[in-house]
Amino acid sequence: MMSEVLAPEQTEAPTEAERQRARRALDRLWQKGAEFLGTPYAILGGAMSWLSERHLVSAISNAGGFGVIACGAMEPARLAEEIAATRAMTDRPFGVNLITMHPQLDELVEVCLQAGVGHIVLAGGIPPGAAIKRIKDGGAKVIAFAPAFVLAKRLVRMGVDALVIEGAEAGGHIGPVSLTVLAQEILPHIQNVPVFVAGGLGRGDALLSYLEQGAAGGQFGTRFAAAAESIAHENFKKAFVRAAARDAVTSVQLDERFPVIPVRALSNAGGREFVAHQAEVIRRFQGGELTREEAQLDIEHFWAGALRRAVIDGDVERGSVMAGQSVGMVGSVQPVAQIIADLIDQAVVALVRQQRRMDADG
Ligand SMILES: Cc1cc2nc3c(=O)[nH]c(=O)nc-3n(C[C@H](O)[C@H](O)[C@H](O)COP(=O)(O)O)c2cc1C
Repeated sequence: MMSEVLAPEQTEAPTEAERQRARRALDRLWQKGAEFLGTPYAILGGAMSWLSERHLVSAISNAGGFGVIACGAMEPARLAEEIAATRAMTDRPFGVNLITMHPQLDELVEVCLQAGVGHIVLAGGIPPGAAIKRIKDGGAKVIAFAPAFVLAKRLVRMGVDALVIEGAEAGGHIGPVSLTVLAQEILPHIQNVPVFVAGGLGRGDALLSYLEQGAAGGQFGTRFAAAAESIAHENFKKAFVRAAARDAVTSVQLDERFPVIPVRALSNAGGREFVAHQAEVIRRFQGGELTREEAQLDIEHFWAGALRRAVIDGDVERGSVMAGQSVGMVGSVQPVAQIIADLIDQAVVALVRQQRRMDADG
C-alpha cells in the first residue's frame, strides 16, 4: 500500500518552524567541528591538487565552509603567493594541505605560519613528529588523515588537533577501507579531538548520518571539483556531470612485485593503456631488458603530470580524471554556495522527517 511506503510525515514540505528547529539541531551536531574550523558550517573542501587554488578555496570559505589549498608539489614561494591571493579573495578562515614527503616540508610549514594560516592539513603518510610540534608551537592547528583506528590513536598521541577519516570511495589517492567501516571502527572511540569524515559523500543526509555517529563534520572533494568556481577545464567538469558512481574506479595493479599506488579516477583510455603499459614493462623485466628498479620507475612515471593534463588541459581521455564514487551525484555545474546550501537543506529535511517520525510514534 502506497501510504505504508511513503507516510505523510515523509512527503509534506517542512514548515518554516520545523526548518528552524532542524537547523538548530544540525548546528548542535556539528558544533565541535564548526568551532574547530572557525566557520558557520563544519564542511571542509578537501584539498585537490591543481583544483584547490585561490578561486575554489575562497568560494568555499566565503560560502561558510572551510576551503583548503592543495600545496601539492608547489615550491615555498609559490605557496606564499597562493595563500596571499586566497586571502585577497576571502576574509574567512581557510587551511593549507601539505604532502609530508615534499622535500621542503619544513619551509612550507614556515610559509604557512608566517602567513598566519590557522590550520595545516598533513597528508600522505604519518606526519613527522617534528612537523606537528613546529606547527603547534607556531600557533596553528594540525589536521591529519587516519586510515585505521591504530593510526588514529597514534596520531592523537602525537598531538594532532583533528583527524580526517577518508574511505576508499573517495577520489584521488585512497586507502583500502570504506568510510562505512572506518566510521564504525573510529568514531565511537575517538572523542578527544574532532573527527571529520570523507569519501563518497554526495548529500547532506549522508553527512548527517555520520554526524549522528559522532563525526564533527564532513570533507567533500568530488562535489566541489566541478563547481562553477573551480578552474578545472570544461571537459573535466563535463566528464564529472556525465559519470556514474561505477565509472570512478581504482587503478589496476598487474603484478604484486610492481606495486601501483591506489588512485580512484574515472575509467578512460589512459587507465586501459596503463594496464597494457604494465604488461609491456613486466615482459621487458622478465626478458632481462630492465632491472626491477627500472621497471618500477617506468610504471610510476606513466602517470606523471596526468592530473594536470586532465584538470588544466582538459585531456580527459589520457589524463587522470581523479574522482570519487560520489561523482554520480554531480548532476550539473553549480556555484559552491548552491552546493553547500543543498547539502544543508538535505540534512535539514532529513532531520525534520526524523522529528516527525518521533512525534508520530508519540
Ligand atoms: C581530483 C582530486 C584531487 C585530489 N587531490 C588531493 C590532494 O592533493 N591531497 C589530498 O590530501 N587529497 C586529495 N584528494 C582527496 C580530497 O581531498 C577528498 O578527501 C576526497 O575527494 C573526498 O572524497 P570525495 O571525492 O568522495 O568527496 C583529491 C581528490 C580529487 C577528486
